[in-house]
Amino acid sequence: MKSILVTGGCGFIGTNFIRFLFDLPDKDFVVVNVDKLTYAANPENLEDIQNQFPNRYFFEKVDICDQIKILEIIEKYEVDTIVHFAAESHVDRSIVGPSDFIQTNVFGTFSLLEAIRKKFEAGIEIRFHHISTDEVYGSLGPIGYFTETTPYQPRSPYSASKAASDHLVRAYHNTYGLPVTISICSNNYGPYQFPEKLIPLMIINMLEGKPLPIYGDGKNVRDWLFVYDHCTAVWAILTKGKIGETYNIGGENEWENIRLIEYLCEVVASKTGENSSKYKKLINFVKDRPGHDRRYAINCDKIKNELGWSQSVDFETGLDLTVSWYLSHLEWLNKVRSGEYLRWIEINYGRRL
Ligand code: NAD
Ligand code: DAU
Repeated sequence: MKSILVTGGCGFIGTNFIRFLFDLPDKDFVVVNVDKLTYAANPENLEDIQNQFPNRYFFEKVDICDQIKILEIIEKYEVDTIVHFAAESHVDRSIVGPSDFIQTNVFGTFSLLEAIRKKFEAGIEIRFHHISTDEVYGSLGPIGYFTETTPYQPRSPYSASKAASDHLVRAYHNTYGLPVTISICSNNYGPYQFPEKLIPLMIINMLEGKPLPIYGDGKNVRDWLFVYDHCTAVWAILTKGKIGETYNIGGENEWENIRLIEYLCEVVASKTGENSSKYKKLINFVKDRPGHDRRYAINCDKIKNELGWSQSVDFETGLDLTVSWYLSHLEWLNKVRSGEYLRWIEINYGRRL
């Protein structure tokens, strides 16, 4: 790898991944971050990297759907690897307005694949790693796990758009021979996550004394993984993964939403010096998310056994780090919550809270 194009590098996981890449010792590859800068992005996340590595880090504000610009960037930076994070990522938004999800997640991925196919047919091979989600597998009952052979059964516009993009990636491998890999990951948490997602939303609401909206009965289960461990897993696949393969990545760390929020109240209280009951009193059961998937749980034996990956951050440590990060980044929170996001939340959540 000499030149890595990361899509969606100004979002939550993309930012963490680029920071991870620049923490790796003895590397001299170039990283090109291609991001359209939607409401979920913050280019300032990587300002220090930009200053520290002016000859190795480059930012291009480009929509992945713009194939001509993508081809120009591939040529300009002689890109040999693409790690594709860019997506519309929030399930609730996909329910209110699915169109951007189809455009970016389906058409955007298709457009990237077409760009790579053109280069491939001209004799230039670009490795493509596609980031997907456990939501493509659908919803589990109280037992069982998603494996790499679990049939796809997406149930929200978001997960359907991600499933469509996964199918396209596999189709381009099978049909044209493009060198692809796919990873399918469970819920991430950690620094830089946009505060519409459960954990950062709850932290900010606690700090502001606002209700903590729990959908339905609060017994939906998610499998939480610290974002750093997602980055190490993607790196393991890039360096040791087998072309054409799909790898599940998970936290092996299932929590019912209500239990998680109660625990989070305690972690926040331990840092603000408040009594956790002050935060727990804010818990507010609200109308359920339509089609709310009940349980996700990942079996990640394949990546563990074949690539030697494992999680390195336990939940207690990861949540502690995450809460500390948000408490010391209140300005960041205010910045990303300004503008479009605030208007959207007012329209879509305002009345419900
Ligand atoms: P995010 O919403 O925080 O960031 C997405 C980034 O993509 C933003 O910077 C946005 O500006 C950019 N983007 C969106 N549309 C674009 C376009 N058309 N062209 C260029 N850039 C565009 O998302 P995230 O949580 O960091 O998720 C990243 C990837 O990981 C997504 O593919 C998501 O499906 C997947 N994933 C997320 C999780 C999770 O828990 N967050 C878990 C598993 C998989
Ligand atoms: O599983 C991987 C997926 O995890 C990723 O593909 C998505 O990009 C990511 O957004 C996430 O999807 P979820 O829908 O699981 O995450 P979210 O943070 O929106 O919600 C987590 C759980 O908490 C879910 O059961 C819904 C519930 N919830 C969420 C919010 C925002 C609430 O009860 N109240 C809330 O206000």
